[in-house]
Amino acid sequence: MTPHNHAKPGDYAEAVLLPGDPLRAQWIAENFLEGPRLVNSVRNCLGFTGIWKGQRVSVQATGMGQPSLGIYVHELINVYGLKRLIRVGTCGGLNPWVKVRDLILAQGASTDSSIVKDRFGAYQFAPLADWALLRSAADKAKAKAMRFHAGNILSSDIFYHGDWEAAYGKLMAHGVLGVEMEAAVLYTLAARFGVQALAICTMTDCLVTGEEIDAEQRQSSLGDMVELALDVAVEG
Ligand code: HPA
Repeated sequence: MTPHNHAKPGDYAEAVLLPGDPLRAQWIAENFLEGPRLVNSVRNCLGFTGIWKGQRVSVQATGMGQPSLGIYVHELINVYGLKRLIRVGTCGGLNPWVKVRDLILAQGASTDSSIVKDRFGAYQFAPLADWALLRSAADKAKAKAMRFHAGNILSSDIFYHGDWEAAYGKLMAHGVLGVEMEAAVLYTLAARFGVQALAICTMTDCLVTGEEIDAEQRQSSLGDMVELALDVAVEG
């Protein structure tokens, strides 16, 4: 037990899906897992464990942003012994060839976060996805004929950037595909503690073209992403 998590030892499976939104964690548990059991509800940051394709798997909400995700992920690894962590989220699009509903498999996560920067002093650490999980997700997405891109994303601490073109322009010119708020810290903690991590995002709103997903498409796209992530979680 921790101040943020009242689960008992063994309540979590070794693999977990990490949405930001607690209600999305509940939606995943109730619609995809067999026999889901609530294991954490501190601060309503819900966590569940159930069965997917015969294997135990968990889903734990992280809240929004890197400081919040960092707390849950640090404890999932160090207190509960989790080994495979897969973020399932949404992101804004930073390049016109990424269409709404496309998946982005975050091969790397650039960031403006001091949580990552401050740890490495003069060095710029490159937070990377676990290669085996990335390859597995890409193979499975291809087999399911899902549209996906693998590459660099931006994990920003700022959602409301007044002048996003000035802020993100150089990153966009270097091929950064999308912007979200969690992956870089997830990858940094996974590297620090020697576990596997991957962030998979559905692009829901393109900053460049203004294209946005509608509510119905959002639900079906998120469902496809969740099934992919669950397969990667249990099969590696
Ligand atoms: N910025 C940051 N995070 C996001 C966005 C965005 O535009 N869209 C979805 N998650």
